[in-house]
Amino acid sequence: MLNQLLLRPVAADDLPIFFEQQADPDANYMAAFTVKDPGDRAAFMARWQRVLADPTVIIRTVVADGAVAGSVLSYEEDGRPEVSYWLGRAFWGQGIATRALAAFLADVNRTRPIYARAAKDNAGSLRVLEKCGFAVVGEDKGFANARGVEVEEFVLALAAEP
Ligand SMILES: CC(C)(COP(=O)(O)OP(=O)(O)OC[C@H]1O[C@@H](n2cnc3c(N)ncnc32)[C@H](O)[C@@H]1OP(=O)(O)O)[C@@H](O)C(=O)NCCC(=O)NCCS
Repeated sequence: MLNQLLLRPVAADDLPIFFEQQADPDANYMAAFTVKDPGDRAAFMARWQRVLADPTVIIRTVVADGAVAGSVLSYEEDGRPEVSYWLGRAFWGQGIATRALAAFLADVNRTRPIYARAAKDNAGSLRVLEKCGFAVVGEDKGFANARGVEVEEFVLALAAEP
């Protein structure tokens, strides 16, 4: 059982781990709206260098019992903050994403409302968001690189505390 979970700034040594985690085909299918080339290491490294240098992106590494489990981040989409997260497959099903997102929202990005998106059939991600207080506020659809077809998604929001 998981004991300690912490968020910390991304270190250079995390990137090869994130690369392997984001290349998982099942995870890509689940997330649907992924990059075109999850197996391209050079493209991954170039993308992450850009992301890490972008002042509108806030990223933390999720460390679970001392191991790099994945990442949680926020970025701006049309000026609105959105959260996203990705865990290595070995870390799924232990409540880590829920704890990591809750910690991110409490300690790292307290902007509200804050938004998220998930493919309508990404039950795990939708449940994580629901457990962190997000509610569906709309829907959208777009071409999903990981599936090669158009996929429907929910748009969710976490409102300010009443
Ligand atoms: C989605 C993801 C972050 C979930 O991480 P996780 O740590 O396994 O999630 P948690 O353990 O915190 O689970 C939270 C809830 O979701 C449920 N859940 C998790 N994965 C599920 C799945 N594949 N199908 C159905 N329910 C699922 C859990 O049972 C739990 O619900 P409960 O508390 O009611 O029992 C992880 O699978 C992942 O990184 N997937 C690939 C990338 C991705 O899809 N990112 C999100 C893009 S929008």
